[in-house]
Amino acid sequence: SHVDPFDLVIFGGTGDLAMRKLLPALLHRYVDGQIPEGTRVIGVAREQLDDDGYRAHAREALGERPQLDAFLKLLHYRPLDARKDDGWQAFAEMLDAEPGHVRVFYLSTSPELFEDICNRLGSHGLNRGQSRVVLEKPIGHDLASASHINDAVGRVFDESQIFRIDHYLGKETVQNLLVLRFGNALFEPLWNAGHIDHVQITVAETLGVGRRGAYYDRSGALRDMVQNHMLQLLCMVAMEPPASLSPDAVRDEKLKVLHALKPIDGRNAMQLTVRGQYRAGVVDGQKVPGYQEDLGGKPSDTETFVALKAEIGNWRWAGVPFYLRTGKRLAQRVSEIVVAFKSVPHSIFDATVPLAQNRLVLRLQPDEGVKLWLTIKHPGPGGLRLRHVPLDMSFAEAFGVQQPDAYERLLLDVVRGNPTLFMRRDEVEAAWRWADPILAAWAASGEAPRPYAAGSWGPTAAVALIERDGRTWNEDSE
Ligand code: BG6
Repeated sequence: SHVDPFDLVIFGGTGDLAMRKLLPALLHRYVDGQIPEGTRVIGVAREQLDDDGYRAHAREALGERPQLDAFLKLLHYRPLDARKDDGWQAFAEMLDAEPGHVRVFYLSTSPELFEDICNRLGSHGLNRGQSRVVLEKPIGHDLASASHINDAVGRVFDESQIFRIDHYLGKETVQNLLVLRFGNALFEPLWNAGHIDHVQITVAETLGVGRRGAYYDRSGALRDMVQNHMLQLLCMVAMEPPASLSPDAVRDEKLKVLHALKPIDGRNAMQLTVRGQYRAGVVDGQKVPGYQEDLGGKPSDTETFVALKAEIGNWRWAGVPFYLRTGKRLAQRVSEIVVAFKSVPHSIFDATVPLAQNRLVLRLQPDEGVKLWLTIKHPGPGGLRLRHVPLDMSFAEAFGVQQPDAYERLLLDVVRGNPTLFMRRDEVEAAWRWADPILAAWAASGEAPRPYAAGSWGPTAAVALIERDGRTWNEDSE
């Protein structure tokens, strides 16, 4: 739907996220005619650049694309330091010159700066009216630092103005999960411990830490991926049907799931979790260095892989394991949610052939789609031979459309003021409340993460984690 011209200020405007995700997302929407002329995208960082310098930077990051020149005219730049006064007054005047514009302040800096930036926005009156602030993850490092940030931002902005982004919620398949679950009569009656054997969520990346080593080494995979993206996916699978799609109806249900997660702590963390760290190996036919070499030879005990077995203690999910795994430098880039149904209670077919489980596989990337694995009769003569085949819904093929990037959808949701796909303060904090004891248990154990070769599926202990329970990680990837 239509939006009016707006101002989007990107703090960290010369950074990786701005150049790799935000500007490309805006350009796509611009080409689609959804970003009206008169909109201003204002990059802010400490570097001394002018508008033209910033546009040149952006041009390089975006590469040759249709309508690039027209788009670049929307870009502006202001050098500002969150810790110094210089330039802030002129910046405020620049924004005040367009009092009718919705203002979005996108904080994609290190979270240590969130407080200073918000204070300056507040002292220049920029928090008033149609102003919104977007907080990019990581929101803190643990529960204490997250609530400190939330307090600081909350002193300047009202909760209704704060958009905590988790870009996984903007992915097409995640949205489709909502529609599949609540738009079809078929799934919901089976969506419980009575009929579901287990759930798997995999987010596997082939990339290493690249140039983000300084950030990543202080975080690790649990903080970088599990506390946010993977728990959000888990919530979308596990939540009760919300009464409506209103922002709080959905977020209330997700929060209940987070509260119901069973604790993983010093008593059981070593049984329920596996940490790994990549060593040198081969990914996509290319030799790649190990994690510590990527850090420039720094010794490190940070995990680049986690697998864990979570459980949700409520009536719907009691006893249904949720196996989560994520890692860098794995064999294949694939993110998917697998809902594995229980087998039929009694087989009337050849007893030597075990009946495969029905599985609903929601593929988030690279090729979005949904497959429902069913058992059918192998066609033709030769008796009742059973086959396991997918009922396939590959979106791109079926609808002939290119999927918008998650950031495209979410950025425009902020401009429209729709927070449904953003995390509320209590959700972020509940997720940390669950993650903190895992981190504490790992630290107390003194164990280093298990090594795995780049290009593998992680440490063998991650396979053992699920096979111990008589289950396997999904491998129907094709
Ligand atoms: C980010 C993490 O939030 O998500 C990165 O910080 C990770 O480490 C990225 O690579 C993955 O996002 P996507 O959309 O490429 O799956």
